Amino acid sequence: MIHPIVKFGAPGLETPSKPVKAFDEKLQELVTDMFESMYAASGVGLAAPQIGVGLRLAVIDVSLGKNPEAKLVCANPDIIALEGEQREEEGCLSVPGFRGYVMRPQYVTVRAQDASGKEFEMRGEGLLARAFCHEIDHLNGVLFIQHLSMLKRDLIKRKIRKLKKAGEW
Ligand code: NI
Repeated sequence: MIHPIVKFGAPGLETPSKPVKAFDEKLQELVTDMFESMYAASGVGLAAPQIGVGLRLAVIDVSLGKNPEAKLVCANPDIIALEGEQREEEGCLSVPGFRGYVMRPQYVTVRAQDASGKEFEMRGEGLLARAFCHEIDHLNGVLFIQHLSMLKRDLIKRKIRKLKKAGEW
């Protein structure tokens, strides 16, 4: 089932999520829904709080559905190593229409659990490293705009306020 993606300003988007404890059927369903919702929105990553679920769970596919092996489920993820840096434009499905340059590590190693609860480690480079950081930020209640300069962030917030007033957010 495709869920609507909540936008900046929604409650829950800026609060830390709780650990996933039950790797049951309900969780498998949530993971399926998250992939469907992410692909429907043409995103490369989606965190559970973005569909209103406060769990430390994210799905990532930097191939946009082209490579089944690129599908990643990260439950309770932690960054255990990082290396180098990259500065690229970043966006977020919860802040549609806005992008900004964010500095991220070039390599990120994550330790997480898959949909069945099995622990794994994975080293990502470039876009995947960026996705790991971006999605784990979501689980900590942090949005990419918090990494922008105050000037740029305030500009985006002002524009969003205007969109809200016009009923377009
Ligand atoms: Ni995002």
